[in-house]
Amino acid sequence: MVVRHVRMPLDHWDTLPAAHREQTLGRRASDGASLTGGGEHTPADLAAVRPDGVPVIAANAHIRPAAPVAGRDDVMFRRSWSYHDGLRPDGSPDAGLLFTAWQRDPRTAFVPVQRRLARGDALSRYLVHEASAVFVVPDGIRPGEYLAQDLLED
Ligand code: HEM
Repeated sequence: MVVRHVRMPLDHWDTLPAAHREQTLGRRASDGASLTGGGEHTPADLAAVRPDGVPVIAANAHIRPAAPVAGRDDVMFRRSWSYHDGLRPDGSPDAGLLFTAWQRDPRTAFVPVQRRLARGDALSRYLVHEASAVFVVPDGIRPGEYLAQDLLED
């Protein structure tokens, strides 16, 4: 499990025009649907282009570099919590996301995804990664097994 403490200076983010925030993420703020339409759970159509040839979901919109690449084992189960811990000494909000991602191996999932985001994610300029950790989380156990047996034995 990868844990990241990601601060998001919301006092700046909240002043940006809604259309810019939606382009930055690739999703609508009102209902979470992607900019190619449908509802929250409709898959985003990353190939969709406007009549003038410009992609509907920008090349650097967060959900594009974050999306799994076909044929690679870079799928993660994400479970994140937003936090707001009041104000920092400079008066800015101490707020952001406690991000967790679960996967078989971070070297094939979180790491390549984070590298793609580092190269071309429009959201990055609004984020400050403050802390990071990786945990090994053993499987559940069945009768007759011991904790982490499948990690310790072939
Ligand atoms: C404050 C930091 C972040 C914010 C506010 C944020 C926000 C979002 C939002 C709103 C979505 C679309 C809805 C969803 O699928 O959950 C999304 C998708 C996603 N994000 Fe983030 N994210 C952040 C950090 C990260 C980080 C650090 C990673 C991994 C390195 C990441 C990976 C992903 C992935 C894999 C998707 C799904 C893409 C897809 O398959 O469509 N995000 N994020």
